[in-house]
Amino acid sequence: MKSFSVVVKKKINKFDKTIFVEGDKSLSHRALLISSQGYGISKLRGLLESEDILNTINALKKLGVKIIKYKNIYHVYGNGLGSFKTKNNLTINAGNSGTLARLLMGLLTTYPHKIKIIGDKSLSKRPMERIITPLGKFGATFMPKNKKTLPCYMIGSEMPIAISHKEKIGSAQVKSSIILASLNTPGITKIKELKKSRDHTENMLKFIRAKIKIKKFKTYNLISIEGQKDFKAFNLNIPGDMSSAAFFIVLTLLTKHSIIKIKNINLNPTRTGIIIILKKMNAKIKLTNVKTKYGEKVGDIVVKSSILKSINCPASLVPSTIDEFTVLMIAAAKAKGTTTFSGLGELNKKESPRLNLMNSILNQVGIKTKLKRETIKIIGSPKINLNKSYTINSHFDHRVCMSVFVMCQIFGGQIKIKDFNSVATSFPSFLYLMKLLGAKYEIKK
Ligand code: S3P
Repeated sequence: MKSFSVVVKKKINKFDKTIFVEGDKSLSHRALLISSQGYGISKLRGLLESEDILNTINALKKLGVKIIKYKNIYHVYGNGLGSFKTKNNLTINAGNSGTLARLLMGLLTTYPHKIKIIGDKSLSKRPMERIITPLGKFGATFMPKNKKTLPCYMIGSEMPIAISHKEKIGSAQVKSSIILASLNTPGITKIKELKKSRDHTENMLKFIRAKIKIKKFKTYNLISIEGQKDFKAFNLNIPGDMSSAAFFIVLTLLTKHSIIKIKNINLNPTRTGIIIILKKMNAKIKLTNVKTKYGEKVGDIVVKSSILKSINCPASLVPSTIDEFTVLMIAAAKAKGTTTFSGLGELNKKESPRLNLMNSILNQVGIKTKLKRETIKIIGSPKINLNKSYTINSHFDHRVCMSVFVMCQIFGGQIKIKDFNSVATSFPSFLYLMKLLGAKYEIKK
């Protein structure tokens, strides 16, 4: 997609709307990857059609999986475990997606061909040793030796060995990569999950009756997977993405006299840290129609404008809020008092160094902050009203773009957000939905 900027010159007026956001990105990746390993035709509804997910579809097609879209339903023709058609020197392009790169490398751990994994500029800077080390224990080899980023080559093992792993980062991508590697590995792979992260992979595998067990202990979860046990194709309805809803939640809270209802959102408790944090900040948010569907909690979110106050946000809430901190920092900038977010080190390992970048963007528009290693303190400015022009460099980070867009609607001023096209990686209908609420913006090529 060609690069473009978005310019906002006016604040948004009050609104009262009901919206749907696009399908959950984490669930969309997993639905495609897991159904490719089942037997038969899986039917996936509500799949996110963003660049990250299209990269997953293309990667699977390159590995010989037939995927057809018919009447808005994706049909994935699975041929069982170990059915990818691999050959030496095949190149898989994960684009901007850490989830695709890490989860697919998990699946490729049991294929004995030399496969090159590449990604875009941003993905090529992100840490891969976190999966290279455990996948190496299964028997996979990575080249060049000691390289910790993409591009790299991997050769899976014909005789993989089940491993025991301690997951200390709180990374669902690491956990899921190991779980996917274990599916075609004989024996029982065990993961001691010391820092809990989103559990969609586990839920989906349980839902389709794959051989996965989760024992919950006081300080950790023990996940065991019995490998080389086939499972059947399945049907799935993918709900909306909390990480996309987040921008509309914060926008509504900060816009006077406004209400929004966001329907059919994934409310898995490992994803709803943002709701807990915002409620502590005084936000008027209600979850309604909550039900369990296809192994995941789903419901509607009703949000009303609120006067936010500062909080001290504990590091324990980081894994369940991880992708929402960029927009939460905008909420904190408008709240009364000083908000502290701690334990945010992982944020600097995302599509951009998000913690550092958001800190400098806030400073650029006059919000005072204190950044010390993994902790940011944001001194709220409830009456902020910008009247100058600013150009914001988004570093091609979709969530930074969308968070800054929300900021523009509230803070005023004339703000140009560069490389806004990155939003297509996760939320192609973002600008359309913002227009529906009354946001005004210009697109500059
Ligand atoms: C994701 C997990 C998170 C999150 C990412 C999606 C997933 O990353 O930031 O956007 O789908 O598993 P980590 O697991 O690396 O924290």
